Amino acid sequence: MSRYAFRAATLILERIERRKVSFDRAFIEIAPSIAPKTHQHLAYEYALNGILYYRAADLLLKREKISGSLRRVCAFRVAFSLLMNKKFGITVDDLKVVSGGLLTGRMLKLLKKIKGITFEDFLKEIPPKKVLGVKYAVPDWLIDELLKVMERRELERLLKATLKPVTWARINTLKSNRKKIAKKIVTLAEIRWDKDYEFMFEIVNGRERVISSSLAKDGFILIHDKGSTVVIDALSPKVGEDILDLASAPGVKTSLIAQMTSDKARILAFDISYNRMREMKNLLRKLNVKNADLTVLDSTKLRMSRRFKKALVDAPCSNTGALSSDPGLRLALRSIVNIDRYANIQYAMLKSAVENLRKGGVMVYSTCSLLPKEGESIVERLEEEYGVVVETDGVLGVPGYKNSRLSSKVRRLFPHINRTTGFFIARIYT
Ligand SMILES: C[S@@+](CC[C@H](N)C(=O)[O-])C[C@H]1O[C@@H](n2cnc3c(N)ncnc32)[C@H](O)[C@@H]1O
Repeated sequence: MSRYAFRAATLILERIERRKVSFDRAFIEIAPSIAPKTHQHLAYEYALNGILYYRAADLLLKREKISGSLRRVCAFRVAFSLLMNKKFGITVDDLKVVSGGLLTGRMLKLLKKIKGITFEDFLKEIPPKKVLGVKYAVPDWLIDELLKVMERRELERLLKATLKPVTWARINTLKSNRKKIAKKIVTLAEIRWDKDYEFMFEIVNGRERVISSSLAKDGFILIHDKGSTVVIDALSPKVGEDILDLASAPGVKTSLIAQMTSDKARILAFDISYNRMREMKNLLRKLNVKNADLTVLDSTKLRMSRRFKKALVDAPCSNTGALSSDPGLRLALRSIVNIDRYANIQYAMLKSAVENLRKGGVMVYSTCSLLPKEGESIVERLEEEYGVVVETDGVLGVPGYKNSRLSSKVRRLFPHINRTTGFFIARIYT
């Protein structure tokens, strides 16, 4: 057992919970200053494992009425998870090296008490209402919300799929051709070509090698979820069109619009975040996208001097659909997220898009959320208040949640059905 990796993992969990940053960001910010290079891989594994068992660890602390600072709680989560996941081969005795500092004496005593108990045993003692949340390390509020729109068995399939992330990537045809890159990529990793989009592929084995390759670093390929491609497919951008992108940074979908039109559409891209726009500028340069104009702006206040035919609103949201790509969300979503705040921004952005589109214009609204409040409900309200027509025929995915009157007119993508991030997609005509 590595003390360095243990400490780094503890601080990574603490950082995610305090600052709500992604798992990868917390790792990059913490691991290099805490763990020597040779221990960093283990730090990653320990932290990831700590997140996957954090609900059970918290429950145990609560049951035994043990409290402590967030850092100590995070240390307990990591320690508990290392005992539960037998692949690490760690015993309570091994944990003594971290006791006294991060792990209190009472915490260590508690871990000794549960010696020999497996995670399955542990789950048997949990009230049925809490089992799904604890088993899949997801907050109860999210489970409750999702049980309003899907059966328990279906939800369990979904949650199970989030534990097995699928890594998608695209060949950037703005820089090279598919054949050339395909030849190189198969020497790096085991991949599976997508059946729907010929430039998309799934990395079955060798993810790290691909990420650190010059192909990725120089923008010949880009790692991103297939769901983003489906969103842009729904927008169906064409050569020569002028397209508004109201929430564009860091530019994955803007660059897809460019790729699908051979960079021959003019994209007016907006985002409220200066930092994310800076990141986007670099990404677009790397991918060889030239036909996009970037403006930092609150797009709920967008007033163009003329009306447009197409718009994309890939709105900010709870990110509840991205549990598999960012395991940190399991922890970051712990304190109840203000969904209404996101819903209000989304609605305001859509309103702004409608007002800047001409009659007969079209926009695509998407979120990577599993919640109907960030999907079906918004589109229903927009239809009522603006008389827009919703129709998402021919787009990959399954219909929206059954309890929505627009269910058949919108699309959802799910990890357990489509092997993608959870997305909501609606095509809306003005
Ligand atoms: C889901 S992300 C967009 C991802 C992007 N479309 C892509 O594919 O890379 C949502 C974005 O909305 C931006 N945003 C949030 N509120 C905004 C507002 N009022 N006006 C413009 N952008 C906003 C955030 O900064 C964030 O970059």
